[in-house]
Amino acid sequence: MDQKQDYANIILTQLESIETLNSLEIAKSLSINHQDLVGCLLQLESANYIKTEGQKQDQLILTNEGTTILNSQSGEYEIYQKIPQEGISMLDLQKLFGIEQVQKVKQEQGEKKEKQIEDPKKKQFDLGFGNAKKMGYIKMDKGLISKVANDLPDKIKLELSQLNTIKLGSQQAKLLIERKLAMISTIKYFEIKKGIKYANKFREQFAALTTEQLLNGEWKECDYKSINLNAEGEKISMGNLHPLLKVRKQFSQILIGLGFEEMPTNQFVESSFWNFDALFQPQKHPARDAHDTFFCSDPELSEEVDTNLRDKVKSMHQTGGVGSIGYQYEWSHEEARKNILRTHTTAVSSKMLYRIAQLYKEKGYFPKKYFSIDKVFRNETLDATHLAEFHQIEGIVIDKNASLGQLMGIIREFFRQIGINKLWFKPTYNPYTEPSMEIYGYHPVLKKKVEIGNSGVFRPEMLAPLGIPEDVNVIAWGLGLERPTMIYYDIRDIRTMVGPEVKVETVRQNAFCVFESK
Ligand code: PHE
Repeated sequence: MDQKQDYANIILTQLESIETLNSLEIAKSLSINHQDLVGCLLQLESANYIKTEGQKQDQLILTNEGTTILNSQSGEYEIYQKIPQEGISMLDLQKLFGIEQVQKVKQEQGEKKEKQIEDPKKKQFDLGFGNAKKMGYIKMDKGLISKVANDLPDKIKLELSQLNTIKLGSQQAKLLIERKLAMISTIKYFEIKKGIKYANKFREQFAALTTEQLLNGEWKECDYKSINLNAEGEKISMGNLHPLLKVRKQFSQILIGLGFEEMPTNQFVESSFWNFDALFQPQKHPARDAHDTFFCSDPELSEEVDTNLRDKVKSMHQTGGVGSIGYQYEWSHEEARKNILRTHTTAVSSKMLYRIAQLYKEKGYFPKKYFSIDKVFRNETLDATHLAEFHQIEGIVIDKNASLGQLMGIIREFFRQIGINKLWFKPTYNPYTEPSMEIYGYHPVLKKKVEIGNSGVFRPEMLAPLGIPEDVNVIAWGLGLERPTMIYYDIRDIRTMVGPEVKVETVRQNAFCVFESK
């Protein structure tokens, strides 16, 4: 049996006849540290053998100086002992304590002045001497110091050795505290009573019931630890969704709920053709400059697109059609083949529209609603709100009945579902939409209108070369993913959301994204 169990049994035996035990007294009687007893008490209490109640008590304890005296003797007593039977002069007594005498110190100016050299031994001596006289150890008669009586005990040392018998508020205690030999310290202890499963002998408790105990019937005799239903489960370390992914998921869920299907976006490198030309964006447009767009060097050029489609796009740019005169310039085949990192998800939409037009040839017209959410790239100067790569969300509706009014209605519904109810539309220009509208929303935290998206009705100059029938309208809108994410998660600097400065702990603690919807 280990020592803890010995202590446990001693406590249990004592409880048989005493109603309330004091843990301090038990520790003292066992000559062990109170702290060492606490572990044993906890074990007994969790098994309900005992009940404890925490208590506080002020107690006199020795200071360092007090401890030194207890281990040797008091200064008063030392002086008393050094005094010879026949008595001694002050000077000789001080000598016995190695105290330097008054010295004449020559000052720098040359004048003579008496100065007592500060001697800590002297100070100590004076204190002890005064006390020794007061305590009746020594007396002084005409310059001769002598003992009052022989064989007196060291009263202070004696007092300190019986510190726990001294009452806290007593004169004796006050004096010891004043002389910095003892001080008051609050200690915590326990009052111990019988528990609901009290027994006078401690039986080991098993944490689990084993097959063996079941088979040999031992379980009938065994005590088992009770289950702590309040214990917290261990924290599981696992992967966590990044805020961008959570908002992205939420957005796609809303769009799916509105009947949109996701387009394949798995292609970061795109030809200028799908990103610009197919969108009726002229080849001299400033956005097609290396200042704004990342061009690829290997492979520099993309594969040929369907030549029939290419020629239709070319002639729309050069001379126009469907009531338009086009841009009236020499369209370059090579320029259109240049590989770039897509600058917007509208590149995905243009490709999809071409595919739909192909399907119309086989199956005839059908309306369709598509969306995409993925990365796009722009040659931006990086700052707190701009990165060179970010996400766009885009929705398109292909429908004979699609109108500007319907576009505004869908946009309102989409933003309502992400908690933005106040919207404004402002006319703008896009090469591929007409009319085009910037979308503004009221930002409840910034308390002002902020631009939240762009939209429009795709131009016939874009749709016709792709093969979309003239009576089919396509309405579309797009917005960034980063800005709403930063607002919802209160992220001030985009560089702490994406890249090496992202704090894993923040990602772990972020709430799941929940948008208010009415
Ligand atoms: N492509 C536009 C942009 O990058 C957004 C947009 C999408 C505008 C669809 C109109 C229609 O800002």
